[in-house]
Amino acid sequence: MNLTKFADELPIPAILSPLQKNRNYTYYEVKMTEFKQSLHSELNDTTVWGYENGYPGPTIEVEQGEKVFIKWINDLPDKHLLPVDYTVHGAHRDVPEVRTVVHVHGACVEWESDGYPEAWFTKGYLQVGRYFRKPVYQYDNGNRPSTLWYHDHTLGITRLNIYAGLAGFYFIRNQQERLLNLPCEKYDIPLMLQDKTFNPDGSLYYPRQPDKPVSEMETSIVPEFIGETILVNGKVWPYLKVEPRKYRFRLLNAANTRFFRITLDSDQPLYQIATDGGLMEHPIGVKDILLAPAERAECIFDFSNLYGKNIIMKNGAPAPYPGGEPVNENTSIIMQFRVMLPLTSIDTSVIPAYLQPYPKLKEQSASKIRFLTLNDMMDSFGREYMLLNNKSWDAPITETPTLGSTEIWYLINLTDDSHPIHLHLIDFQLLDRRNFDVEKFNQEKIIHYTGAVQPPELQEQGWKDTVSANPKQVTRIIMKFHSYTGLYVWHCHILEHEDYEMMRPYIVIR
Ligand code: C2O
Ligand code: CU
Repeated sequence: MNLTKFADELPIPAILSPLQKNRNYTYYEVKMTEFKQSLHSELNDTTVWGYENGYPGPTIEVEQGEKVFIKWINDLPDKHLLPVDYTVHGAHRDVPEVRTVVHVHGACVEWESDGYPEAWFTKGYLQVGRYFRKPVYQYDNGNRPSTLWYHDHTLGITRLNIYAGLAGFYFIRNQQERLLNLPCEKYDIPLMLQDKTFNPDGSLYYPRQPDKPVSEMETSIVPEFIGETILVNGKVWPYLKVEPRKYRFRLLNAANTRFFRITLDSDQPLYQIATDGGLMEHPIGVKDILLAPAERAECIFDFSNLYGKNIIMKNGAPAPYPGGEPVNENTSIIMQFRVMLPLTSIDTSVIPAYLQPYPKLKEQSASKIRFLTLNDMMDSFGREYMLLNNKSWDAPITETPTLGSTEIWYLINLTDDSHPIHLHLIDFQLLDRRNFDVEKFNQEKIIHYTGAVQPPELQEQGWKDTVSANPKQVTRIIMKFHSYTGLYVWHCHILEHEDYEMMRPYIVIR
């Protein structure tokens, strides 16, 4: 199927209005439904799932420290839109097929409101998972100003629920950030990058079987999903008309498996101002930005001297990353900017020289070091799957940090893929990466480094909640468990991995 590129305008999700807002708190209700939406003008309308009848869902905008309550409501049909594999954890036939639970990715939040994968619920909360505590979640929004996002997190079907459309943005703002005079309002635009494949009738395609099918099964999970088209905010290859001035773009990779290496064909620098966890110490000018699933980067694009030009945002990352297929004439294209709108007023926004302090966590302050492997496994059907620390989801909890303590985690990647590792609840800092001898580790369980210490990439020098653990490397992260106690998770954000055992519970204890 050949869809024309840059045929449709980029949609910008609406800002969600609260049902109630007073001095003490703000209250929202968000309903999940199935509906039809146009994802490209040459395609029939596609049946998708979304929040408040939108895919992506409406953007939730809050002030730092604002107390927010959200009632998440499942109003979906009871048959899934996409093929369910009943053999993966949490998705066996003893549970209803359509289950949902919402996680605000990056939020520092009490565990009962974090969207634990087994806190799922069905329509009308008629059936709930064993960790379901309440329908109305509470967010204290203590995070720094940042681009968070909300998405489904149901055990065993997250990949399907997000692919169906259950994802949206969640911004935290504050006054200090406003005083920086960054491009704002209609010049502050979120871009949710995803990939999808369509059936000829316009419906969403998601594989029923891996390339090497499992004959015993009607439906089997696939080791990765790589789509044929690229969507931004739910449109395939859109364009955006812009003024010749500065814009702030909030880039999010919300794909199942695909990494994006983002460049502009104008060769202009991208001024990155924020990582997953908010503003960096100062902007950095880069030629490209690599985003693994769930990672965010905020950038200022300056179109000031480009009136009349069309600029294409491109992707160069092989899929799966890093050893997979190179991009082709379709997957190398993300979207287009048309610098054709007249300047409505003088652009007084700035790219500040300094953004906010970035205090580095000190290695000496860590009271606990954990060595955690990323493992390649084979199941009884001959399918490859991945584990964290050699343990499945149901094994007893092994990561039990103490409230107030600082820890360093060594992510020892024994596999051939990059895995975007995400921790709920806290932001961490990337210390470094280093090559090591995988053979020797497998035999003797010791880390024998074979390369020099690699500092974080420029674009990673800030607060992170998701980091690429690259193949045959030890990736070290440091974090302080400063806020809440309770039950959370850490996992690979490749959704096909997360849904099949590459996720572990962890608990912050007092
Ligand atoms: Cu983006 Cu555990 O999630
Ligand atoms: Cu993974």
